[in-house]
Parts: sequence; structure tokens; C-alpha cells
Amino acid sequence: MRNHADEVFQRIVAKFRRSVPVAAEMGILPYKSENGTWISSPYDGNSWWTGGFWPGLMWQLFAATKDEMFRTEARRAQDMLTAEFRTYDLLNHDTGFMYLLSTGADYKLHHASDPAGSRQARTDTLHAASLLMGRFNPVGYIRAWNEKYKMGYAIIDCMMNLSLLFWASRETEDPRFANAARIHADMTLREFVRPDGSVSHIIEIDPATGARVAEHPGQGYALGSSWSRGQAWGLYGFTLAYINTKDERYLNAAKRIAAYFVAHIRPDGLTDCDFCQPEGEERIDNIAGACAACGLMELARVTGDDQWQAAAERLVDGLIDHCCDWSEDRCGILTHCTASYHDDGAGRHTNITYGDYFLVEAIAKLNGTDPMLWL
Ligand code: GLY
Repeated sequence: MRNHADEVFQRIVAKFRRSVPVAAEMGILPYKSENGTWISSPYDGNSWWTGGFWPGLMWQLFAATKDEMFRTEARRAQDMLTAEFRTYDLLNHDTGFMYLLSTGADYKLHHASDPAGSRQARTDTLHAASLLMGRFNPVGYIRAWNEKYKMGYAIIDCMMNLSLLFWASRETEDPRFANAARIHADMTLREFVRPDGSVSHIIEIDPATGARVAEHPGQGYALGSSWSRGQAWGLYGFTLAYINTKDERYLNAAKRIAAYFVAHIRPDGLTDCDFCQPEGEERIDNIAGACAACGLMELARVTGDDQWQAAAERLVDGLIDHCCDWSEDRCGILTHCTASYHDDGAGRHTNITYGDYFLVEAIAKLNGTDPMLWL
């Protein structure tokens, strides 16, 4: 890699040492930064699917530094997230994103040294897994969202949430969580992964029979296009499914999706928002690049194939060379994050916390401090 990961990590730590007190003072769970300061997420501010990334960032920084500031902030955020268990309607299939990186991380980092003190974090994470399990439809998929007309919607993002179910099966020695995860992963393999290695964002399934009804374009450019963050979810998600199960079919899917992604990395190392967007359209989503870099490094680790590591480092170099805001007075680091192709109001070319999370996870992997919070 052209950049020195350890130096970059020191800059990251310095930046968060300044911006963590801002979030704590505001009493919010940061979702993105605007005009230099944190803002919280939609709805009640704590139930949005991204809520785990802020505590996840804190746990990454704590694992590397043992600085108490980061542990205190992670637990402040976790208290807001676990309060969401009482809302029901605001939670969806993203309990994996939300609780693996928060209470799950807390448990992972403390259960050996403090078994009694970490019991509540384990309970909360199992509760999150049970909520995800409750969305499993035995005709063969996990329901993504709550609107009645979306009862049959399954989305590629869910591949990242499945790790919570695999974790719950290991933790309880009850295979039903993992069985549901495998059924959903098999459906995703069959219905989402296209022959060229690209993936769909949304597939609608008949909730009574399990038959495929339709594909929907979701957050990408158009029907049949390739929303890059969806590709990253598929790449990392199938890699995790392989690590969780050792099922070679998932590894092969991860490799195919990875090859498609790598073939579309821009010459500057950044990632277009959709790999099928019109030529000349400057619409970047660096979250996709940062997440894909993490998935590629895990793929390199499990396959021993250096081409994936080299591609990951190309992505990370691109982010560091062009899109990191190191200014002392502004919160947030990674710029040019885009929430959704056709919804600029949701955030276009801005800083979004989960972009920072995956950038930090990628640098932590390069430095050897990543506690691997997804497993
Ligand atoms: N999981 C929703 C998104 O990637 O925007």
C-alpha cells in the first residue's frame, strides 16, 4: 500500500478524540456530519439501521488503543440502541448491523475478562438475534422491511445481518438460527447473484409460496443495474457466510462478486455509486469502496489469494489519497458517501458514519488490530 496504515490510524484516533466529546455533549448517536458537526439519523434518531456503526467505531478504536473514552462512548450509544427493543415497529432486519457492532462487540471484547459484567451485552445481542429470527418466513427468506406492501421484499444487505444468526447458534448451541441463515443465503445465491457476478438489490418473493415475484431497483440507478454498495454487501456478506459455514458455494459466490467489483474500481481507486450509471456521471459512494475493501481483505485471508488483498489496498489508497477530511474542527472523516442513487436528500457526496466505520475497520485490518466484530 502506498499509504502507511499505522500513520493513518493515528490520525483517525486523533480525529475521534476530538469529535467523540461533541457527540456525547449533543447526546445523540451520530449518523453523519454536516457543516462540521454531527447530526442524528431519521425517525427517533436511534432506530435507524446505521445505529450500530458509531458504537462499532468506538469498539474498533478501543480495541486498538484501550482508551477508556471510546469504551464509555460505545456504552452510551448502546444504551440508546437497546432502548429501541421497546419500539418494535421501528426495527427491521438490520438488527445484525445494529447489535453485532454494539452489544455483540462489547460481549466479544469482555466476556473472557469479565464474564459477569458482559452477561447483559450477551442477552441484548441474543434478543436482537431473536428479533431477526422472527422475521424469517419458512417459505425461504428473511423479510427486510415493515411496510405491508414490502412483506415479500428480501434485500442483498441482509447478507451482512446473517452473521448475527450464525453467532447466536454458536452461542446457544441451537442450530435453528444458523438454519434460517443458510436458507436465506441459499435463496440469495439463487435469486440475487447474476451470471456476470453482479447482484440485485431487492427481490420480491411471494410470502405465501416462496416463488419469485419481481426484481426492484432499490437504491441503485435502474432496474437490472449494479448499485455498488449492494455489490459490497454481497461480497462481504457471502465471505462471512463462508467463514460461518465453510460452504464452498458461498465462497465461490463471494469470489464472483469480488471479481465483478474489482473490475469496476475507478482508476483513482474510488467507487461509482452504481457500476451501470451513465458515462460521465460523477456520482461516487465511498462507503461501497470501504466496505468492499474489508470484504476483500477477509476473502484474501480465507483463500490465501493476494489479488484480493491488492485490490483492497488499491481501494484504501484511493480513499486516503482523495477523500479523507483531516481538519481539526470538523467531525467525520470519509467524504463522498452517497446514501442512495436517486435520493440526494438522503445524502450525496457527504460524510456518513458507516463510511467512517468501514474505513476504520479496513485500516485496523491492515494494522492487525481488527477484533472482527462481524463474527
Ligand atoms: N442497508 C441500507 C443501505 O445500504 O443503504
